[in-house]
Amino acid sequence: MTEQGKSCNWALEINDLTVAYNSKPALWDVDLRVPEGVLLAIVGPNGAGKSTLIKATLDLIPRAAGSIRIYGKPYRQARNLVGYVPQRGSVDWDFPTSVLDVTMMGLYGKIGWFKRPGKKERELAMSALEQVGIAHLAHRQISQLSGGQQQRTFLARALVQDAQVYFMDEPFAAVDAVTERAIVNILKELRERGKTVIVVHHDLQTVRDYFDWVALLNVEMVAVGTVYEAFTNDNLRKTYGGRIAGIGAASGAIDVTSTRDSAEYAEVGDAV
Ligand SMILES: Nc1ncnc2c1ncn2[C@@H]1O[C@H](COP(=O)(O)OP(=O)(O)OP(=O)(O)O)[C@@H](O)[C@H]1O
Ligand SMILES: [Mg+2]
Repeated sequence: MTEQGKSCNWALEINDLTVAYNSKPALWDVDLRVPEGVLLAIVGPNGAGKSTLIKATLDLIPRAAGSIRIYGKPYRQARNLVGYVPQRGSVDWDFPTSVLDVTMMGLYGKIGWFKRPGKKERELAMSALEQVGIAHLAHRQISQLSGGQQQRTFLARALVQDAQVYFMDEPFAAVDAVTERAIVNILKELRERGKTVIVVHHDLQTVRDYFDWVALLNVEMVAVGTVYEAFTNDNLRKTYGGRIAGIGAASGAIDVTSTRDSAEYAEVGDAV
Protein backbone atom coordinates (compact mmCIF):
# COMPACT_ATOMS: atom_id res chain seq x y z
CA MET A 1 0.00 0.00 0.00
CA THR A 2 1.19 3.51 -0.77
CA GLU A 3 1.59 6.33 1.73
CA GLN A 4 -1.49 7.89 0.20
CA GLY A 5 -3.32 4.64 0.77
CA LYS A 6 -2.53 4.65 4.45
CA SER A 7 -3.81 8.16 4.95
CA CYS A 8 -7.20 7.61 3.32
CA ASN A 9 -9.84 4.89 3.54
CA TRP A 10 -11.25 5.30 0.05
CA ALA A 11 -9.46 4.30 -3.14
CA LEU A 12 -12.08 6.38 -4.95
CA GLU A 13 -14.44 8.95 -3.52
CA ILE A 14 -16.94 10.76 -5.75
CA ASN A 15 -19.32 13.33 -4.29
CA ASP A 16 -22.29 15.01 -6.01
CA LEU A 17 -20.94 14.46 -9.52
CA THR A 18 -22.96 15.92 -12.37
CA VAL A 19 -21.78 15.73 -15.99
CA ALA A 20 -23.69 17.07 -18.99
CA TYR A 21 -23.18 16.90 -22.74
CA ASN A 22 -24.74 19.87 -24.52
CA SER A 23 -26.59 20.71 -21.29
CA LYS A 24 -28.20 17.26 -21.15
CA PRO A 25 -27.10 15.45 -17.96
CA ALA A 26 -25.42 12.10 -18.47
CA LEU A 27 -24.71 11.80 -14.73
CA TRP A 28 -26.80 13.43 -12.05
CA ASP A 29 -25.61 14.05 -8.50
CA VAL A 30 -23.67 10.81 -8.30
CA ASP A 31 -21.94 9.60 -5.13
CA LEU A 32 -19.55 6.66 -5.14
CA ARG A 33 -17.14 5.52 -2.45
CA VAL A 34 -14.95 2.52 -3.16
CA PRO A 35 -12.76 1.00 -0.44
CA GLU A 36 -9.28 -0.20 -1.27
CA GLY A 37 -8.85 -3.79 -2.41
CA VAL A 38 -12.25 -4.54 -3.91
CA LEU A 39 -13.33 -5.70 -7.33
CA LEU A 40 -16.29 -3.49 -8.24
CA ALA A 41 -18.65 -3.81 -11.21
CA ILE A 42 -20.42 -0.76 -12.58
CA VAL A 43 -23.63 -1.97 -14.23
CA GLY A 44 -26.46 -0.16 -15.96
CA PRO A 45 -28.16 0.02 -19.39
CA ASN A 46 -26.58 1.48 -22.54
CA GLY A 47 -26.32 5.24 -22.16
CA ALA A 48 -26.49 5.06 -18.34
CA GLY A 49 -23.31 7.12 -18.01
CA LYS A 50 -20.88 4.33 -17.07
CA SER A 51 -18.12 5.39 -19.47
CA THR A 52 -18.84 9.02 -18.63
CA LEU A 53 -18.27 8.26 -14.95
CA ILE A 54 -14.85 6.79 -15.69
CA LYS A 55 -13.88 9.58 -18.11
CA ALA A 56 -14.87 12.24 -15.59
CA THR A 57 -12.81 10.48 -12.92
CA LEU A 58 -9.76 10.54 -15.19
CA ASP A 59 -10.31 14.23 -16.06
CA LEU A 60 -10.91 13.31 -19.71
CA ILE A 61 -14.16 15.30 -19.77
CA PRO A 62 -15.25 18.32 -17.75
CA ARG A 63 -17.79 18.05 -14.95
CA ALA A 64 -20.61 20.46 -14.22
CA ALA A 65 -20.41 19.86 -10.46
CA GLY A 66 -18.95 17.57 -7.83
CA SER A 67 -15.62 16.38 -6.49
CA ILE A 68 -13.58 13.29 -7.27
CA ARG A 69 -10.69 12.00 -5.15
CA ILE A 70 -8.36 9.07 -5.68
CA TYR A 71 -6.75 8.18 -2.37
CA GLY A 72 -7.82 11.59 -1.17
CA LYS A 73 -6.24 13.50 -4.06
CA PRO A 74 -7.49 14.98 -7.31
CA TYR A 75 -6.63 12.93 -10.40
CA ARG A 76 -3.78 15.21 -11.51
CA GLN A 77 -1.95 14.45 -8.27
CA ALA A 78 -2.84 10.76 -8.26
CA ARG A 79 -2.40 9.85 -11.92
CA ASN A 80 0.53 7.53 -11.18
CA LEU A 81 -1.82 5.45 -9.03
CA VAL A 82 -4.29 4.93 -11.85
CA GLY A 83 -4.49 2.37 -14.67
CA TYR A 84 -7.09 2.68 -17.43
CA VAL A 85 -8.46 0.26 -20.01
CA PRO A 86 -10.79 2.25 -22.30
CA GLN A 87 -13.89 0.91 -24.06
CA ARG A 88 -12.60 -0.75 -27.20
CA GLY A 89 -14.70 1.13 -29.73
CA SER A 90 -13.33 4.45 -28.48
CA VAL A 91 -9.81 3.83 -29.77
CA ASP A 92 -8.25 4.37 -33.20
CA TRP A 93 -6.89 0.92 -33.97
CA ASP A 94 -5.52 2.02 -37.37
CA PHE A 95 -2.83 4.02 -35.61
CA PRO A 96 0.45 2.51 -36.88
CA THR A 97 2.05 1.04 -33.78
CA SER A 98 2.91 -2.40 -32.44
CA VAL A 99 1.44 -4.37 -29.56
CA LEU A 100 4.72 -4.02 -27.66
CA ASP A 101 4.77 -0.23 -28.14
CA VAL A 102 1.19 0.13 -26.90
CA THR A 103 2.04 -1.99 -23.87
CA MET A 104 5.12 0.11 -23.09
CA MET A 105 2.94 3.23 -23.14
CA GLY A 106 1.79 2.03 -19.75
CA LEU A 107 5.27 2.83 -18.45
CA TYR A 108 5.42 6.43 -19.62
CA GLY A 109 4.17 7.74 -16.31
CA LYS A 110 7.24 6.16 -14.72
CA ILE A 111 9.98 6.73 -17.28
CA GLY A 112 8.75 10.07 -18.66
CA TRP A 113 7.47 10.72 -22.17
CA PHE A 114 10.80 11.82 -23.64
CA LYS A 115 13.01 9.01 -22.49
CA ARG A 116 13.21 6.03 -24.82
CA PRO A 117 12.23 2.72 -23.23
CA GLY A 118 15.21 0.40 -22.69
CA LYS A 119 15.77 -3.31 -22.14
CA LYS A 120 14.18 -3.32 -18.69
CA GLU A 121 11.01 -1.65 -19.96
CA ARG A 122 10.79 -4.08 -22.85
CA GLU A 123 11.12 -7.02 -20.44
CA LEU A 124 8.37 -5.65 -18.21
CA ALA A 125 6.08 -5.19 -21.20
CA MET A 126 6.87 -8.68 -22.54
CA SER A 127 6.10 -10.21 -19.18
CA ALA A 128 2.71 -8.43 -19.09
CA LEU A 129 2.00 -9.68 -22.62
CA GLU A 130 2.87 -13.20 -21.47
CA GLN A 131 0.48 -12.81 -18.55
CA VAL A 132 -2.39 -12.02 -20.92
CA GLY A 133 -1.29 -14.73 -23.38
CA ILE A 134 -0.26 -12.67 -26.42
CA ALA A 135 3.54 -12.43 -26.14
CA HIS A 136 3.75 -14.04 -29.58
CA LEU A 137 1.96 -11.00 -31.06
CA ALA A 138 4.34 -8.40 -29.55
CA HIS A 139 5.57 -7.10 -32.92
CA ARG A 140 2.22 -7.20 -34.72
CA GLN A 141 0.59 -3.91 -35.74
CA ILE A 142 -2.44 -3.23 -33.54
CA SER A 143 -4.64 -2.77 -36.64
CA GLN A 144 -4.04 -6.45 -37.41
CA LEU A 145 -5.41 -7.80 -34.12
CA SER A 146 -8.74 -9.46 -33.39
CA GLY A 147 -11.10 -7.78 -30.92
CA GLY A 148 -10.11 -10.07 -28.07
CA GLN A 149 -6.41 -9.56 -28.81
CA GLN A 150 -6.90 -5.78 -28.76
CA GLN A 151 -8.57 -6.13 -25.39
CA ARG A 152 -5.66 -8.17 -24.04
CA THR A 153 -3.20 -5.56 -25.35
CA PHE A 154 -4.93 -2.88 -23.32
CA LEU A 155 -4.97 -5.09 -20.28
CA ALA A 156 -1.22 -5.67 -20.64
CA ARG A 157 -0.67 -1.92 -20.91
CA ALA A 158 -2.61 -1.40 -17.67
CA LEU A 159 -0.70 -4.21 -15.93
CA VAL A 160 2.75 -2.70 -16.61
CA GLN A 161 1.58 0.50 -14.96
CA ASP A 162 1.51 -1.30 -11.62
CA ALA A 163 -1.24 1.07 -10.52
CA GLN A 164 -3.23 1.06 -7.26
CA VAL A 165 -6.64 1.68 -8.84
CA TYR A 166 -7.67 0.24 -12.20
CA PHE A 167 -10.56 1.45 -14.33
CA MET A 168 -11.63 -0.94 -17.08
CA ASP A 169 -14.45 -0.13 -19.46
CA GLU A 170 -16.00 -3.39 -20.64
CA PRO A 171 -12.85 -5.54 -20.70
CA PHE A 172 -14.97 -8.59 -21.53
CA ALA A 173 -16.53 -7.15 -24.67
CA ALA A 174 -15.60 -9.19 -27.76
CA VAL A 175 -13.61 -11.83 -25.90
CA ASP A 176 -14.24 -15.56 -25.93
CA ALA A 177 -15.05 -17.59 -22.81
CA VAL A 178 -11.46 -18.73 -22.28
CA THR A 179 -10.13 -15.17 -22.56
CA GLU A 180 -12.84 -13.95 -20.21
CA ARG A 181 -11.74 -16.51 -17.61
CA ALA A 182 -8.10 -15.48 -18.07
CA ILE A 183 -9.00 -11.81 -17.57
CA VAL A 184 -11.11 -12.56 -14.50
CA ASN A 185 -8.19 -14.44 -12.97
CA ILE A 186 -5.92 -11.47 -13.59
CA LEU A 187 -8.45 -9.12 -11.98
CA LYS A 188 -8.74 -11.38 -8.94
CA GLU A 189 -4.97 -11.56 -8.70
CA LEU A 190 -4.79 -7.76 -8.74
CA ARG A 191 -7.28 -7.69 -5.88
CA GLU A 192 -5.18 -10.23 -3.94
CA ARG A 193 -2.33 -7.76 -4.24
CA GLY A 194 -4.47 -5.06 -2.62
CA LYS A 195 -5.34 -3.24 -5.85
CA THR A 196 -8.78 -1.76 -6.41
CA VAL A 197 -10.37 -2.71 -9.72
CA ILE A 198 -13.41 -0.88 -11.12
CA VAL A 199 -14.96 -2.55 -14.14
CA VAL A 200 -17.85 -1.54 -16.38
CA HIS A 201 -19.68 -4.81 -16.90
CA HIS A 202 -22.74 -5.83 -18.91
CA ASP A 203 -23.30 -9.47 -18.09
CA LEU A 204 -25.52 -9.50 -15.01
CA GLN A 205 -25.28 -13.29 -14.84
CA THR A 206 -21.62 -13.20 -13.84
CA VAL A 207 -21.66 -10.23 -11.42
CA ARG A 208 -21.93 -12.47 -8.34
CA ASP A 209 -19.13 -14.75 -9.55
CA TYR A 210 -16.63 -12.14 -10.62
CA PHE A 211 -17.14 -9.19 -8.26
CA ASP A 212 -17.43 -8.47 -4.56
CA TRP A 213 -18.83 -4.93 -4.94
CA VAL A 214 -21.32 -3.46 -7.38
CA ALA A 215 -22.55 0.01 -8.38
CA LEU A 216 -25.91 0.20 -10.18
CA LEU A 217 -26.08 3.31 -12.34
CA ASN A 218 -28.68 4.89 -14.57
CA VAL A 219 -27.74 8.58 -14.82
CA GLU A 220 -28.31 8.62 -11.05
CA MET A 221 -26.60 6.14 -8.74
CA VAL A 222 -29.26 3.61 -7.74
CA ALA A 223 -27.18 1.63 -5.23
CA VAL A 224 -23.57 0.88 -4.27
CA GLY A 225 -22.29 -1.75 -1.90
CA THR A 226 -21.23 -5.35 -1.57
CA VAL A 227 -22.81 -7.63 -4.14
CA TYR A 228 -24.68 -9.24 -1.27
CA GLU A 229 -26.24 -5.94 -0.16
CA ALA A 230 -26.68 -4.02 -3.39
CA PHE A 231 -27.23 -6.55 -6.18
CA THR A 232 -30.89 -7.13 -5.42
CA ASN A 233 -33.88 -7.64 -7.71
CA ASP A 234 -35.34 -4.41 -6.45
CA ASN A 235 -32.23 -2.38 -7.32
CA LEU A 236 -31.93 -4.11 -10.70
CA ARG A 237 -35.50 -3.15 -11.52
CA LYS A 238 -34.82 0.45 -10.50
CA THR A 239 -31.75 0.49 -12.74
CA TYR A 240 -33.10 -1.26 -15.82
CA GLY A 241 -36.80 -0.43 -15.46
CA GLY A 242 -39.05 -2.86 -17.33
CA ARG A 243 -36.16 -4.14 -19.37
CA ILE A 244 -35.35 -7.07 -17.17
CA ALA A 245 -37.52 -10.12 -17.28
CA GLY A 246 -37.64 -13.00 -14.84
CA ILE A 247 -35.05 -12.14 -12.23
CA GLY A 248 -35.04 -15.45 -10.45
CA ALA A 249 -34.40 -14.70 -6.80
CA ALA A 250 -33.83 -18.33 -5.89
CA SER A 251 -31.59 -19.32 -8.77
CA GLY A 252 -29.97 -15.94 -9.20
CA ALA A 253 -30.83 -16.23 -12.89
CA ILE A 254 -31.20 -12.92 -14.64
CA ASP A 255 -32.56 -12.52 -18.11
CA VAL A 256 -31.56 -9.31 -19.78
CA THR A 257 -33.73 -9.26 -22.82
CA SER A 258 -31.42 -7.42 -25.19
CA THR A 259 -28.60 -4.95 -25.39
CA ARG A 260 -30.33 -2.45 -27.63
CA ASP A 261 -30.15 1.26 -26.99
CA SER A 262 -32.03 2.92 -24.13
CA ALA A 263 -34.44 4.73 -26.45
CA GLU A 264 -35.62 1.43 -27.86
CA TYR A 265 -35.90 -0.04 -24.40
CA ALA A 266 -38.18 2.75 -23.33
CA GLU A 267 -40.59 1.74 -26.07
CA VAL A 268 -40.43 -1.92 -25.19
CA GLY A 269 -41.11 -0.95 -21.59
CA ASP A 270 -43.33 -3.20 -19.55
CA ALA A 271 -44.05 -5.51 -22.43
CA VAL A 272 -40.71 -7.21 -21.83
N1 LIG B 1 -19.19 13.11 -26.44
C1 LIG B 1 -20.52 13.07 -26.23
N2 LIG B 1 -21.33 14.06 -26.69
C2 LIG B 1 -22.66 14.04 -26.46
N3 LIG B 1 -23.29 13.06 -25.76
C3 LIG B 1 -22.54 12.05 -25.31
C4 LIG B 1 -21.12 11.99 -25.50
N4 LIG B 1 -20.64 10.88 -24.91
C5 LIG B 1 -21.71 10.26 -24.38
N5 LIG B 1 -22.85 10.95 -24.60
C6 LIG B 1 -24.19 10.60 -24.14
O1 LIG B 1 -24.16 10.51 -22.73
C7 LIG B 1 -24.90 9.39 -22.27
C8 LIG B 1 -23.99 8.46 -21.46
O2 LIG B 1 -23.01 7.90 -22.33
P1 LIG B 1 -21.96 6.82 -21.83
O3 LIG B 1 -21.04 6.55 -22.96
O4 LIG B 1 -21.36 7.29 -20.55
O5 LIG B 1 -22.92 5.58 -21.53
P2 LIG B 1 -22.53 4.08 -21.10
O6 LIG B 1 -23.28 3.78 -19.84
O7 LIG B 1 -21.07 3.91 -21.08
O8 LIG B 1 -23.20 3.25 -22.29
P3 LIG B 1 -22.70 1.88 -23.03
O9 LIG B 1 -23.18 0.75 -22.17
O10 LIG B 1 -23.46 1.93 -24.32
O11 LIG B 1 -21.22 1.93 -23.20
C9 LIG B 1 -25.50 8.75 -23.51
O12 LIG B 1 -26.81 9.22 -23.66
C10 LIG B 1 -24.61 9.24 -24.64
O13 LIG B 1 -25.34 9.34 -25.84
MG1 LIG C 1 -19.74 2.81 -22.17
